[in-house]
Amino acid sequence: MTDPELRAAIAAFPWFHTIELRPGIATPGAKSAAVIAAEAEALLGPLDLSGRSVLDIGAWNGAFSFEAKRRGAARVVASDSYTWRHPDYRGRETIELARRELGLAIELLDEDVMRLNRKEHGAHDVILLLGVFYHLINPIAPLMRIRAMASEVLVIETHLDAAELDRPAMIFYPGATLANDPTNWWGPNPLLLHELLREIGFARVLYRDHPLYGRRRGMVHAFRTEAPAIARPGGHQGWYDLARPEERARLAAAAKGT
Ligand SMILES: C[S@@+](CC[C@H](N)C(=O)[O-])C[C@H]1O[C@@H](n2cnc3c(N)ncnc32)[C@H](O)[C@@H]1O
Repeated sequence: MTDPELRAAIAAFPWFHTIELRPGIATPGAKSAAVIAAEAEALLGPLDLSGRSVLDIGAWNGAFSFEAKRRGAARVVASDSYTWRHPDYRGRETIELARRELGLAIELLDEDVMRLNRKEHGAHDVILLLGVFYHLINPIAPLMRIRAMASEVLVIETHLDAAELDRPAMIFYPGATLANDPTNWWGPNPLLLHELLREIGFARVLYRDHPLYGRRRGMVHAFRTEAPAIARPGGHQGWYDLARPEERARLAAAAKGT
């Protein structure tokens, strides 16, 4: 494909991720390259992905799947269904175009999160659930199946709400009351993410605020074991272990700017 042909192919689709496909030719994503880079570093930097298998649930155009591959993952499966099948978004065609252009060997799995399970879809060392939790009207049953599929760590990035409450809570958004988007349902607080993930079987759950949006969005590493080999030594500075009362206090103090 020539450069003008590639530009025309890119222009045929709406894009969520800004991805440089060739020097000077990037997809015009609603999420900028700077935001993707900051999120990727915060989410993936503390983990040693080399040789690991990664499942990216809700991958859309695939920026984080490609990033996991670049960071040394042996196998990456990008999974989605809503935007991939949507007649306007045509997400499956976008990730195929990006994969072809970047020459990165990621696999594609067209499956609804509500149907993902270990028996059919196997286990992965790392599971990414980025920007997806709040889109699930019934998030807990699929989260339990995802827990069974995660051999080492589940990585979550999500919209948050009710962070000022010192009890586990999440806010329900009927209709299109969150960001005028009828596919948004829930805003959990950090304690809810911590307690829920511990209850469903993760041994160690670490939380951090979003590197750019503060506590409006949050990030979680939920590990299957207490001392996970995949965690880089010293990689979790700035993260909170909310099982420890002093870290809960530190999180609450950070919210008040003290
Ligand atoms: C906000 S985008 C997040 C994209 C990317 N993970 C990121 O963080 O930049 C949400 C993605 O989750 C997908 N998604 C939402 N609900 C889903 C479901 N029930 N099954 C599969 N994918 C779903 C959408 O299709 C969309 O691609």
